[in-house]
Amino acid sequence: MRVVQDMGYWATVFLEPSTRTRLSFEIAIHAAHAKALTLDPEHSSLKKNESLLDTFLNLKAMGIHGAVVRTADHEALLHAAAKTDLRILNAGSGTLEHPTQALLDAVTLIQQFGEIHGLSIGYVGDVAHSRVARSGRNLFQRLGARVIAAGPKDFFSDDWMKAQRSIDELYDTCDAVIALRTQSERHGVPTSGQNEFLSRYGVTTQRLSQMKPRAVVLHPGPCNRGVEIHEEVLSDPRCLMFKQVQNGVRVRTYLIEKFSQKN
Ligand code: CP
Repeated sequence: MRVVQDMGYWATVFLEPSTRTRLSFEIAIHAAHAKALTLDPEHSSLKKNESLLDTFLNLKAMGIHGAVVRTADHEALLHAAAKTDLRILNAGSGTLEHPTQALLDAVTLIQQFGEIHGLSIGYVGDVAHSRVARSGRNLFQRLGARVIAAGPKDFFSDDWMKAQRSIDELYDTCDAVIALRTQSERHGVPTSGQNEFLSRYGVTTQRLSQMKPRAVVLHPGPCNRGVEIHEEVLSDPRCLMFKQVQNGVRVRTYLIEKFSQKN
């Protein structure tokens, strides 16, 4: 008889919306023979101003092994994670970090090209508000890629200025173009010119044919069809969006298994 080791409880604590990250972590928890518990923030004591740290301390006291956390407040997550021995996996924090997205994007590119070293990778769109792009840039540069970006100037923050290029340079030279969703919910005022975005910057069939023959398109999701990417591009074999989602399950299963081990 095969004995399956009990890997304990993991809680998912998502203070911002998610489809891909949350469900793939939940699949990963089941695949690792751990038990998934969902803390619904709307019906939890976070709603009664309990802090993230006190939430973590209480989860630990209940015997929960780890938590997968998404929050708009990156600093609060760092602070709370440093003060508990509950295992914390970052499922996206503020505009700064989305480490598992970076890992699954890297796996997707390695499947396609064999390695990241030497690739040119271009982000199109709202890099200023994108934790996907910041985590991706950190990882890809460490692995030896060139990372550039293009888009409207209000979508650029100081840390992206050196990477800014024209839209044609990006589509002409990159091995991978990563389209980003315009994060209207993080803009103080509604973003102007969303309707023009596709024609000026977005991934259209015309731009797909402008790209190098082996170049690919990625999108972290959720995507706004017809805003940052054209409908037809999504069904083109050079668009790897659903491969990214599949790799998200693999990467997160690896992480849950690794961090479920006792030592
Ligand atoms: N890419 C990503 O983080 O998607 P979700 O917001 O749906 O998790």
